[in-house]
Amino acid sequence: MTQQTLTRDGGEDGAGRGRPAEPVQADSALASAPPDAIVVEGLRKVYRDKRGGTVEALKSIDLRIPQGSFFGLLGPNGAGKSTLINILAGLVIKTDGKVWIGGHDMDREMRSARLSIGVVPQELVLDPFFAAREALDVQAGYYGLTKGERRTDELLAAVGLTDQATTYPRALSGGMRRRLMVAKALVHAPPIVILDEPTAGVDVEFRQQLWAYVRRLNAAGTTVVLSTHYLEEAEELCDRVAIIHRGRLIANDRMPDLVARLDRKELVIFVDEDMAQLPAGLSRFEVELRGPRRLVVRYARSQTEIGAILAAVQQAGVTILDLSTVESDLEDIFLHLTRQAADEP
Ligand SMILES: Nc1ncnc2c1ncn2[C@@H]1O[C@H](COP(=O)(O)OP(=O)(O)OP(=O)(O)O)[C@@H](O)[C@H]1O
Ligand SMILES: [Mg+2]
Repeated sequence: MTQQTLTRDGGEDGAGRGRPAEPVQADSALASAPPDAIVVEGLRKVYRDKRGGTVEALKSIDLRIPQGSFFGLLGPNGAGKSTLINILAGLVIKTDGKVWIGGHDMDREMRSARLSIGVVPQELVLDPFFAAREALDVQAGYYGLTKGERRTDELLAAVGLTDQATTYPRALSGGMRRRLMVAKALVHAPPIVILDEPTAGVDVEFRQQLWAYVRRLNAAGTTVVLSTHYLEEAEELCDRVAIIHRGRLIANDRMPDLVARLDRKELVIFVDEDMAQLPAGLSRFEVELRGPRRLVVRYARSQTEIGAILAAVQQAGVTILDLSTVESDLEDIFLHLTRQAADEP
């Protein structure tokens, strides 16, 4: 990347820098452009390898990421998440389609689009000649921030690198390098922050520290997009989730709606005596003996009432000692949807 300075001159409106809580409006020339933080229409990416072969990493993706949302981007390895994120970051050139970032058309207003976004790429790329503090100052210079606008110390503290301020990348651990990448992406206080697997290879403490910081940014109005393989992380943090599979979007929902889509629940029943086989009368349910005194019943919430299951168990003459239910979680829905998509031609 060339070291050019991104400033507000050149006829662009500069919307985005230092104004994370404010809705980003489309330019007048783009009055019809939607107000979402990110809009992607018909996005395609075809990579070409050296032998003339091609990989269609994104197959006409349509996606809207609402302003102020905490948006999860999930998918198996090779699904196309990083390709999508790197296109938004300006690191990969799209083959086809339209992208608006903060209301700015990426093709026509690259500079404003870039000012609106801060991306932590999955790949660790740091200039070996700049120590942590210098790396942040150089990045601030790249965005044309004055000394007064810089938040170098705040960012170093936020990512736990205050003691490594003068340390060069080669002397930083892998996790510390990732922390520095996160700080670099936040230098210009972008209203949209995208993190591509930021917690891969970092310790528990940083993970918690990072999420606390990112949550504060989100509460102040910053749109956060996160790609992760830790589904419980996505479940805890994200209000919306999209799932990509082999370059296609196979889900895009509010978190509770997504989990509700998998209409499955498990009822675990503990009984007071050993059972050699399942009691007759329960065969109409999907039931399994998991241990001599433990019955597991799987059912669809929309079709079966838990009372009907319990009544059948009691009618079979079995005394119930205790019960618990297990909701489907994001991991269940993720596996269900990606397996279903894999079966499709
Ligand atoms: N520079 C490249 N040249 C050729 N093919 C590529 C290139 N980058 C990615 N691909 C291919 O594009 C597809 C999508 O890759 P991508 O890195 O976007 O997946 P991902 O969802 O981020 O996966 P992961 O979870 O492993 O990070 C894969 O088939 C990958 O091999
Ligand atoms: Mg990736």
